[in-house]
Amino acid sequence: MRLDKYLSHATGLSRKDIQRLLKKGAVTVNDEIIRSGAVQIDSEQDEICFEDQPIDAPATRYLMLNKPEGFVCANDDSTHPTVLSLIDLPRAEELIICGRLDIDTTGLVLITSDGQWAHRITSPKHKTGKCYEVTTADPIPESAIRKFERGMMLQNDKQRTQPAELRLLSEHQAEVILTEGRYHQVKRMFAALGNRVTQLHRRSIGPVTLDPELAPGEYRMLTDEEVERLG
Ligand code: URA
Repeated sequence: MRLDKYLSHATGLSRKDIQRLLKKGAVTVNDEIIRSGAVQIDSEQDEICFEDQPIDAPATRYLMLNKPEGFVCANDDSTHPTVLSLIDLPRAEELIICGRLDIDTTGLVLITSDGQWAHRITSPKHKTGKCYEVTTADPIPESAIRKFERGMMLQNDKQRTQPAELRLLSEHQAEVILTEGRYHQVKRMFAALGNRVTQLHRRSIGPVTLDPELAPGEYRMLTDEEVERLG
């Protein structure tokens, strides 16, 4: 990572202030004064000091949010509020959203500053199951279970969907477990069966379930155990 990026993450100072401090000779990497922010450092190995005081990297952040309707899963958006605007933490806009939900979908969203962890959760290779509660306009026939299991060809896609689990809860309600996250996937799978999703809520991602204590729009830090079970 670039030294100036690391310093601005660790201290919350602007890049401009960091540049000034670097020029002044206030920053050392392994006891050597470094004046260029472009120098690459290894935050695990190198000792980075500011005016002789070691700077620790900020703690990695892992959160779960109960996404309300009307918010977009994006780092910024010109027309709609983003889920990151609900996070009252320094530099929230830099966090990574692990697996996006549509604007009208509610429920569990995982948010982190750990890129590798986010990748493990979202990459289809890792087959992390995402469980959705679905309500549909028309009744869901039993035959849909087999179609989800076999995988479907969706419009404009080149490959069948991965096997998915469909559990019928009532005539118009079901639970769907997907191990991939294609664009509007649940809605498109039901559309391929001639049905329409009227409500969609994500209940869990892998072994982590949305905390029932969280009202829509609320979030909490994940416990160490939740972070490990997901990663
Ligand atoms: N599938 C969808 O269609 N929408 C979502 O938000 C998530 C999965």
